[in-house]
Amino acid sequence: MSGFEYVDNELCCDGVSISEIASKVKTPFYLYSYDMLKKNYQSYVDAFQTVDLLVCYACKANSNLSILRALGNMGSGMDVLSSGELFKALKAGISPEKIVYNGNGKTRADMEYALQSGVFAFNVDSQNELFLLNEVAGATNTVARIALRVNPDINPLTHPYVATGLAKSKFGIPIHEAKDVYQTAASLENINVVGIHSHIGSQLSKVDLYLETLKKIMALVNDLRNIQIHLEFINIGGGIGIPYQDNESMPHPKDLSNLISPWIKDYKLILEPGRSIVGPAGVLVTDVLYIKHTHKKNFIVVDAGMNDLIRPSIYGAYHHAVLATKHIYPEEMMYDIVGPICEEGDFIARDRNMPRVKQGDLLVIKDAGAYGFSMSSNYNSRPRVPEIMVADGKDYIVRERETCEDMIRGESIPTGW
Ligand code: LLP
Repeated sequence: MSGFEYVDNELCCDGVSISEIASKVKTPFYLYSYDMLKKNYQSYVDAFQTVDLLVCYACKANSNLSILRALGNMGSGMDVLSSGELFKALKAGISPEKIVYNGNGKTRADMEYALQSGVFAFNVDSQNELFLLNEVAGATNTVARIALRVNPDINPLTHPYVATGLAKSKFGIPIHEAKDVYQTAASLENINVVGIHSHIGSQLSKVDLYLETLKKIMALVNDLRNIQIHLEFINIGGGIGIPYQDNESMPHPKDLSNLISPWIKDYKLILEPGRSIVGPAGVLVTDVLYIKHTHKKNFIVVDAGMNDLIRPSIYGAYHHAVLATKHIYPEEMMYDIVGPICEEGDFIARDRNMPRVKQGDLLVIKDAGAYGFSMSSNYNSRPRVPEIMVADGKDYIVRERETCEDMIRGESIPTGW
């Protein structure tokens, strides 16, 4: 049995009871299903059989070393956005020839590290970045393989914070200016122009948006060919959404492939999925500390806070919350699920109808594998929670719970204070 399913009223992860894991690990913790990770990765490979595909998993979604290693073993490359992500990808054993380096604020030090590591390509976000990269490559006796990140001005119909392909967005080079920048790039001594990149947004529910983007990209690619700039690959980023709610329907990689594969026959295709690979493969397990009824609300106070899972607080994101052990109480109640942090914005769910919950129950917050742990913090001086992965019927601690000592590592008090 793979993924998260109930067996005799006990929610299991790849067949292992979550309550049993909780009795060993203590809450809160993140829990990942290896099988589901594999299934989600494989769905991209299976869908794009007819093209030369490189999946560069966007490790910003979840950069636990075991997740990176597992995906690397399956054949995945990585999209990294910082020296830290590059360090982790290399530590996990990902071959640099499968790593693309993203971001609109790369520093000279980032460039040096990536060039020395021999990454597959930089996705360059601006002309000035291009000039610096050329200079850094020259100074380090390397040549930078680049794609320009173009901004196609397409409305991705998603949360404004993750809509990156609109004209007003901070990302990319406006597509109508890109030809000139490509010409400049081709003239630079330490730059090798190899591809084109675009990422219009995250949690996308319509694959047509990719086709719209690709049509604009292909028009440019043809223009470039006419001026003797020949590209190896087309990278259309990540972004396929996942159904956080029951009534949401989200595209499958197959839908994307059917639409775009015919357009990219002569090129290598790079995709940078994050959420759709790791999101549904992870949950956050949290203990119900208290039930509190006021004349306005019913609160479930849990031991996980907005520092552990910030998506509901900053995007108003919905995550299903279910009981690890089903018990059938007759009536449902409407609850707010809140954490222990000192802010009113510290909630996991609001006005949520669910079967009656009692103190000591375990709640499982679904679809938390992407942008869950990776966006967690030590706010309120709370040590980060552990991460557990179930693989082959065994649960492994893939990151220990932080200690208070871990939290103060590097802090110091001036002598004599
Ligand atoms: N490629 C680039 C250049 C990106 O910026 C991103 C995500 C991805 C790929 C992966 O997109 P995905 O397949 O995961 O949608 N924290 C937000 C999501 C931020 C996405 C940032 N960029 C959230 O929790 O919803």
